[in-house]
Amino acid sequence: MSATIDRPAPAETTTEAVVARLDAATSAFDAPFAAVHLPTLDANAADLVRRASGTPIRVASKSVRARAVLERALGAGLTESGGFRGIMAYSLREALWLVEKGARDVLMGYPTVDRAALADLASDADARQAITLMVDCAEHLDVIAAAGATGARLCLDVDASLRIGPVHLGVRRSPLRTPDAAATLARVAASRGFAVVGVMFYEAQIAGLPDSSAAVRLVKKASASELSTRRGAVVDAVTSVVGRLEIVNSGGTGSLEVSSADPAVTEVTAGSGLFVPTLFDRYRAFTPRPAMFFALDAVRRPTPKIATLFSGGYIASGPAGASRVPTPVWPAGLKLLRNEGAGEVQTPVTGLAASALRIGDRVWFRHAKAGELCERFTAVHLVDAGGAVTTVPTYRGEGQCFG
Ligand SMILES: Cc1ncc(COP(=O)(O)O)c(C=O)c1O
Repeated sequence: MSATIDRPAPAETTTEAVVARLDAATSAFDAPFAAVHLPTLDANAADLVRRASGTPIRVASKSVRARAVLERALGAGLTESGGFRGIMAYSLREALWLVEKGARDVLMGYPTVDRAALADLASDADARQAITLMVDCAEHLDVIAAAGATGARLCLDVDASLRIGPVHLGVRRSPLRTPDAAATLARVAASRGFAVVGVMFYEAQIAGLPDSSAAVRLVKKASASELSTRRGAVVDAVTSVVGRLEIVNSGGTGSLEVSSADPAVTEVTAGSGLFVPTLFDRYRAFTPRPAMFFALDAVRRPTPKIATLFSGGYIASGPAGASRVPTPVWPAGLKLLRNEGAGEVQTPVTGLAASALRIGDRVWFRHAKAGELCERFTAVHLVDAGGAVTTVPTYRGEGQCFG
């Protein structure tokens, strides 16, 4: 697939217009299915590049889960004004598969204890060169060494959360936080024969938290300032042990401006900003342009005010609650029923537009998260500006399921 992220913004500028385009282009397909509006996807990719201000973007595969889309983002390459370079994978088994398919720069975003995958890494020279493992403790080194992969390229995950007294704002992942702790692990890794090539900071409390209130914005600002000081000190400390670092990775879709502003950062990560699911609707830094949707068909009319659709219960991960449920977007004026929500096989909708829905009519939804929708389908329909459809497999469609 050719990359076209420099294309101008799509002619369809509203979600209604985008979905109308998708609806017309996919009318021959039976639902349920997922579809992506390519002009919007390309405009989102270009917007991520703009927001990263020249810092290369590593695409987060977990937020995509379809190789054709990863390749589309990466295809334009890197220019002086920035662009996409490399993949952040979520599973080592996935990373090995991507390398088999031609990927040459894969950073694991998370540690692994998959012994068989590590043994495969150890025995594959291409993979050893292309894949950088993520570690945050000596036990990770033990597991990697036991699988025979001593010498592997390593990146240290440094906790980027904000601590205010006993309050922890951010994800619970790495125990590494201080420059000393990072330098100590780097020293141990180097003395055991590993190649420490990078450090990563994922500031989830900035990147993954919508700007829902003034208080949230204040916390984000405080966090960015604390992290920028600490990140520099960690980079200096690790550099003094292992020499210049190839990778200083930071951020996610919601933090590209702040993360790329730190001169210590060599690359940022983004994935969700390509599809723009509902959890990314309320950020001040960018205007959400949803590119990915799924379609369901009305199969029953239990009352004149309710239409019931086939399938649809694609609930997103994270703290269970309303924000993780899919949102009906077209026709406008539909809502889920409080008692049933989006169901395993049946999803009733009500609201103004429901009474006009007939058996066989199509309803379009957005998912709350980006890549997870691809786990529900074997393929996704990519619709171009002229309405032409290219159907590409998801990871699942290629027989791959990495968890
Ligand atoms: C390590 C890491 N980096 C970056 C990201 C950002 O990904 P996205 O742009 O899809 O929000 C995530 C998301 O969870 C992550 O876990």
